[in-house]
Amino acid sequence: MSAFLETLQLGRTFGGLKAVDDVSIAIQQGELVGLIGPNGAGKTTLFNLISGFTAPTSGEVRLKGERIDGLTPHDIAQRGIGRTFQNLRIFPNISVFDNVTVGAIGHENIGLGSILPWQKAKSDRITQKSFEALQAVGLLEEADQLAANISYGKRKYLEIARALAMQPDLLILDEPAAGLNETETQHLASFISRLHQEGRTIILIEHDMRLVMSICQRVIVLASGRKICDGTPDMVQKDTGVLEAYLGVDE
Ligand SMILES: Nc1ncnc2c1ncn2[C@@H]1O[C@H](COP(=O)(O)OP(=O)(O)O)[C@@H](O)[C@H]1O
Ligand SMILES: [Mg+2]
Repeated sequence: MSAFLETLQLGRTFGGLKAVDDVSIAIQQGELVGLIGPNGAGKTTLFNLISGFTAPTSGEVRLKGERIDGLTPHDIAQRGIGRTFQNLRIFPNISVFDNVTVGAIGHENIGLGSILPWQKAKSDRITQKSFEALQAVGLLEEADQLAANISYGKRKYLEIARALAMQPDLLILDEPAAGLNETETQHLASFISRLHQEGRTIILIEHDMRLVMSICQRVIVLASGRKICDGTPDMVQKDTGVLEAYLGVDE
């Protein structure tokens, strides 16, 4: 059986820098996998390669056996990969609800402002999906507020809601806990766990090692663009190569 998501000897260079260097990973359906590594290890670039925001210079990305490298971010989102960004991409001057709708619209491929009856059905579906996504992250009450007016912590959930509105088969989260306090981080950890228990496949980039180790069954470690370890949290924590990679970098 082929993996749900696979990268095969995937690489991306920027000038002379190998940001992602010959990385092969396989994610099975229903897994919650942590992706860790020191700053500059290539984690975000790997996510960009998977979601189509960056084109690879070598290698392949396969989703359910089909090559998706070279497709646009929009096409990849349509095929079922939803993501969040390390630097939030929230539109501050529109409502929380409208921020989520942007995600749902992407999925339905609807023309904005269309009035045809079948488009109306689509737009009802978008409204419903958007409300469901907001409910899932606990932001229903804030639906009408301007995104600029909700707290930073809530904006992180808003990003997740936008990705969820696309009803992705695979959710990739880039440092969702960055900037959150201890209590908020714990809340987020149980939220991600719940998404996983509901059957979602998730890859989680996270700086907060305790969060990763507590909720992921498997952890992949990148350092200087290369995969240096792939195993259970226990294995990864005992791996001397991983320890050296972290010690070698000023954080
Ligand atoms: N668009 C880009 N242009 C040039 N260099 C980049 C670009 N994106 C990332 N890099 C470089 O690639 C390396 C990996 O970056 P990144 O994937 O953001 O690491 P991480 O997310 O693990 O901190 C870094 O050295 C970074 O400076
Ligand atoms: Mg990053």
